[in-house]
Amino acid sequence: MVFDHVRIFDTTLRDGEQAPGAAMTISEKVRIAHQLARLNVDIVEAGFPISSPAQFEAVQRIASEVRGPTICALARTIEADIQAAGESLLTGSKCRIHTFIATSDIHLMAKFADVRYGKTLEEKRDTVLRMTSEAVAMARAIVADVEFSAEDAGRTDPGYLVEVVSTAIEAGATTINIPDTTGYCIPHEYAQLFHTVREHCKLSDQVVLSTHCHDDLGLAVANSLAGVLAGARQVECTINGIGERAGNASLEEVVMTLNVRRRHFGAETGIVTRLLTPTSRLISIATGFAVPPNKAVVGGNAFSHEAGIHQHGVLKSRETYEIMRAEDVGQEAEAIRLGRHSGRHGLFSRLESIDIFVDESRQEELYQAFVKLADKKKEIFDEDLRELAQRSTPKESADHYRLDHIHVITGTGRQPRAEVLVHHASSGTARRETADGDGPVDAIYKAIDQAIGRHHDLVSYGIRSVGEGADAVGEVTVLIEDSGAFFRGVSRHTDVLRASADSYIKALNQMEAFRTEEKNVEFVGGGIMQSFDSGNTE
Ligand code: KIV
Ligand code: ZN
Repeated sequence: MVFDHVRIFDTTLRDGEQAPGAAMTISEKVRIAHQLARLNVDIVEAGFPISSPAQFEAVQRIASEVRGPTICALARTIEADIQAAGESLLTGSKCRIHTFIATSDIHLMAKFADVRYGKTLEEKRDTVLRMTSEAVAMARAIVADVEFSAEDAGRTDPGYLVEVVSTAIEAGATTINIPDTTGYCIPHEYAQLFHTVREHCKLSDQVVLSTHCHDDLGLAVANSLAGVLAGARQVECTINGIGERAGNASLEEVVMTLNVRRRHFGAETGIVTRLLTPTSRLISIATGFAVPPNKAVVGGNAFSHEAGIHQHGVLKSRETYEIMRAEDVGQEAEAIRLGRHSGRHGLFSRLESIDIFVDESRQEELYQAFVKLADKKKEIFDEDLRELAQRSTPKESADHYRLDHIHVITGTGRQPRAEVLVHHASSGTARRETADGDGPVDAIYKAIDQAIGRHHDLVSYGIRSVGEGADAVGEVTVLIEDSGAFFRGVSRHTDVLRASADSYIKALNQMEAFRTEEKNVEFVGGGIMQSFDSGNTE
C-alpha cells in the first residue's frame, strides 16, 4: 500500500510560545529548532518577526543556521508584517511566509470594527478579501512558498470561507490553512470544512490543505486527524501540545496515531519517532512546563505497568497491553512500575533489565526486602533496586566520577559554600574542592567543576517533586553542553541539594562515557544524550 505524505508543521516556537509563561530565549529557540530538524519535521514556524526585535532575531538565526525543514515566519495581511517576515528569512535556504487574517463574523465585527474596513458586515468581508489577495501576492513576490490562514475558520460561514480560500489560491498561496482557532469544532464538522473547500474552491487540488487545531475542548488531535481523513496533507501542531490557552494539537499524538494506524489513514509522516520523547523533554525543560505522567506517547507512565496482571501479560508479550513500542518513541522499553502491587515476575525482570542478576538462593530475601520497601514507598525506582541489591553484593562503579562527600553551608546573610570530594576512576584518586556560589546549587556545581578541573555550561536545571507526603523526593534534571552536544543527568533524593549534585555528576559521567565510548550511550543526532544506565527517565 502506498501512503500519502502528511507534512508536519511544527509551531512550538510560535503558537507554542504563546502559551502563558512559555517564553523562551533566542538561544533556546535555536537549540529547539535544531532538535526539530533532527526530528525531521517538514516545517518549523520560527516566530512572528514584526511582533518584537527578539522574535525577529530568533527567526533570522533559525533561518540562517537550521537546515532541513522549511523555516516559516508569521505575518498579518499587512505590508510591514510581510516585509519583516521576508527580511527575517533572507539568509534561509527553504523559507515560507505564513500570512493570516480573521474570517469569522465574530472576529470581523470585533477586530475590524473601525469604519475604514467598511460599515456593514458585507463591506468588511470585501475588505478582508482585498487584504488577503494583496498580502498573498506581496508575499509571493518575496518567496515561492506562501501559506494563507483564515483565522477562526472553524466558526466562519462556509460560503464565505470558500470565497476567501479561492481568493488566496488565485493570488498564489501554496498552502491553505483552515484553523479551528478557538477549539470550537467537533471532528465531523471540522472535516466538513475540508470537504467544502475541496469541492467548491477552484484549484484547491493545486495547494496543500492544512489543519491547525486548538485544544479548548480537548479535541485538537481528533479534529486534526479528522482533517487528514478529509484530505488535509499538513498538520500544524506543537511538542507536548503547548500553545495559546489549552494549547494546540500535540505533535507526538498526531504523529503516533498516523504511525500506528497508517493503514486506516493511508498516510504517514517522515518523523523520526524515537526522538519524540527526548524532544518533549527538551521543550519541557526550556518552558518549565512539566509533562504530565499520563500524557500519551511521551508521559513517564505511558509505557508503565504496575498491576501484577498487566506486568505478567506484558512480560509474556508486549502486545497484550501496548499498541506501540516504547523504544520507537524514545521511551525506556521495560517501564515496569514497581510498587506494592507488583509481583516477583515484575521485580526480577526489572532487575534484569538494569543488569542486576540475582542468584536463586538470594531471590526470596531480596523479594521480601522489596515488599517491605514497597509498603513504605509509593513507587520503587531503579536506584532503590540497585541499593537493595548492593546491600549484600557491592559492585564497582564504572563511572568516571563519583561523589564521595558533599557538605553545603548556607543561611541568611552569608554566601553559600559547598565542599565536595570527587573520586576519579581513571586515576583512582579523589579531589576535595570548596567553592562559593550565588546559591547552594551554584556553589556545588562550581566545586564539582573545580574538582574535575573543567568548567561546564549548564544549559538548564529543573526540579520537581515526585510522590506525596513523607516519601516525596525531589527529582533534579540537568542538561549540560560540551562542544555542541548535550548530556542529561537525572537524580532523585529526599535532599534536593544531594539530588542536584548527583544529577550533575551523572551528566558529567554521560559526557565522559561519550568521549571515551566506554558506555552504552545513545547520541541523539548531535543533540540530547539519552542514558540507558539511568533508571530515572521520567
Ligand atoms: O489559531 C490560529 O488561528 C493561528 C493562526 C495564526 C494560524 O494561530
Ligand atoms: Zn493557533
